[in-house]
Amino acid sequence: MRLRYSLLKPGPIGMPGAQMNNEEINIESVLAEDRVFEPPPGCSETLGGAFIPSMEAYETAWRRSIEDPEGYWGEVANEFEWSTPFTEVLDWKCPDARWFVGGRTNITDNCVDRQVRDGHGDDVAIIWEGEPVEDGGPEIIKLTYRDLQRETARFGNVLKSLGVEKGDVVTIYMGMVPEVAIAMLACARIGAAHSVIFGGFSASAIVDRVNDADSKVILTCDGSWRRGSVVPLKDNVDEACRDLPGVQSVVTLRRCNNEITMHAPRDRDWHEMVSAADEECPCEPMDSEALLFLLYTSGSTGKPKGIVHTTGGYMVYTAHTARNTFNLRPDEEQVYWCTADVGWITGHSYIVYGCLPNRVPTVMYEGAPNFPAEDRFWDICERHAVTQFYTAPTAIRAFMKWGDEHVQRHDLSRLKVLGTVGEPINPEAWMWYHRTIGGERCPIVDTWWQTETGGHMITPHPAATPTVPGSCTLPAMGIDAAIVDENGEELPNGTGGLLVIRKPWPSMLRGIHGDRERYLETYWSRVEGMYTAGDGARRDERGYFWIMGRIDDVINVSGHRLGTMEVESALVAHDTVVEAAVVDMPHEIKGSGIAAFVTLASGTVEDDALVEELRRHVGQEIGAIAKPDMIRFTHALPKTRSGKIMRRLLRDIAAGRDSNQDTTTLEDASIMDKLRGNEES
Ligand code: WT7
Repeated sequence: MRLRYSLLKPGPIGMPGAQMNNEEINIESVLAEDRVFEPPPGCSETLGGAFIPSMEAYETAWRRSIEDPEGYWGEVANEFEWSTPFTEVLDWKCPDARWFVGGRTNITDNCVDRQVRDGHGDDVAIIWEGEPVEDGGPEIIKLTYRDLQRETARFGNVLKSLGVEKGDVVTIYMGMVPEVAIAMLACARIGAAHSVIFGGFSASAIVDRVNDADSKVILTCDGSWRRGSVVPLKDNVDEACRDLPGVQSVVTLRRCNNEITMHAPRDRDWHEMVSAADEECPCEPMDSEALLFLLYTSGSTGKPKGIVHTTGGYMVYTAHTARNTFNLRPDEEQVYWCTADVGWITGHSYIVYGCLPNRVPTVMYEGAPNFPAEDRFWDICERHAVTQFYTAPTAIRAFMKWGDEHVQRHDLSRLKVLGTVGEPINPEAWMWYHRTIGGERCPIVDTWWQTETGGHMITPHPAATPTVPGSCTLPAMGIDAAIVDENGEELPNGTGGLLVIRKPWPSMLRGIHGDRERYLETYWSRVEGMYTAGDGARRDERGYFWIMGRIDDVINVSGHRLGTMEVESALVAHDTVVEAAVVDMPHEIKGSGIAAFVTLASGTVEDDALVEELRRHVGQEIGAIAKPDMIRFTHALPKTRSGKIMRRLLRDIAAGRDSNQDTTTLEDASIMDKLRGNEES
């Protein structure tokens, strides 16, 4: 069976979500999208006054941020609390940036304690909602800044009692419970770094990441709720720990009351430890460039890379962009909700660190969008009077498919700004978001950025930027984005090329943990002196950016990055598999799905049971998001005479396209017949 890509008609930039090949970069194409949406009248007023109220204001501020970055960022940084002021805004020796040099600060102090000092201790910081719905409704917990101060202090002391010191990396593998934010902020409070692993990843994914980060302490939950069932997080940690002799402590929070095994003396109970902990725990003054966290993301080779983010620049940039992109204003009855999981950068930057300094309550939801029914998100928006809402195109496409009736049951009139992130949004989904969710009165901010960039890079500003469905529009403050060729020459509007950033920005990654070579090679080798994002893009005649997709062997599945090599390695780790090639394929909901072409050990029976077994196996090796959507058996993979797998050919086959690729270099021409023949079956 082949999946149809019915919703995703080829947009103006080719297929959103589809991968672009190096060879395809320079193909000219006419931009078909001509719908332009001006910011709705009165937008600025409904947001309590826009920080960037017009295009003129945007252009003036942006130009200044580019011409005088040190002046611009120095001023923004001075809105934060520093225990030691910085002496220099930027020290830049490409590709190494040091921001706010000499300054000492603490991000938890700026997120939490500062609000208490300023008299806002009783304001709500986090509104948390659990997934299960009982007769009385779901469980809701509201945490004020004072609550957060007390809880991060207590948990900071818990970490200290386990021997965690400044600079240590604590691994966090938890569900979306309030304690996960508390844990992250508690690490930052005492100067430890965290490495959050998405709860959907498997035991072996935990092993790789804990080893790479050299974590001695893991924080987890007994389980997490997902669509009414329990994901056994603690069991996964136990399994991982069999291969992790260096882990000294595992602290487990009880959430689902599922059965778990506690291994003394390693395993400790969260509540017991917290109840015994003191409430006094000062925020450690940290150097601007001190490690704040590692976050692992997939690259083109097998091993995930630990992206390094540091304290000062990340703090300043994420809070500033959260403020500008969503026009977050305290005291304006705003309620902001980002639906991401904290296991991804979106959760780090735009649920936790970027939001709290802006003092607008932020919603955190534990579970699935369709539990107990397909209207759960809209139910949450209505009940909590959400004003700024931020989600991913894959979710929007799922809602479209589930039907408008789920939306129409709810009063969404409080919504003011809608955000999207993670992958290109196809114009159909954009229009549905605009009409059905936004009631045609909410600007859509399509935010392009990456784990590596820390914060929004290219995005509309809601009260200023006219939007065009499918375009992330224009660079954020201080961002010198451009489309260039391999020589770094800027390409004319309308021509596709490499998306690069030509100037440093405060929240840029500082490296890949423990792998300087890979850092230089991945981001700084392709074009001299510029950060290469790994995306192909073009600008239209307005100068607006259109993201065309990854140019490396990374697949963007539902807005999450997966390396084709990771999935291939998982497949060949199975006894029956001799060789595997993984490519992206169009997928109605996920944007891109995963197609695997597999050759089997002789004598293996090619049947549906084996397909299921291989999917299960990949799920176990990496996590459910990596399960191939299509597995096709073949006696050989199409290779050139020099032995290179012809991925583009496989991509055409997976997409059900007639391949226009020249196959004369194919070593064994009969393979194509077999692959094509399979397709009809
Ligand atoms: C890759 C980064 C940034 C948080 C979520 C993903 C793609 C991201 C957009 C967008 C088109 C987008 C890019 C990018 N991407 N946002 N608005 N429009 N593409 O973070 O896992 O680091 O992935 O996601 O391809 O390189 P990530």
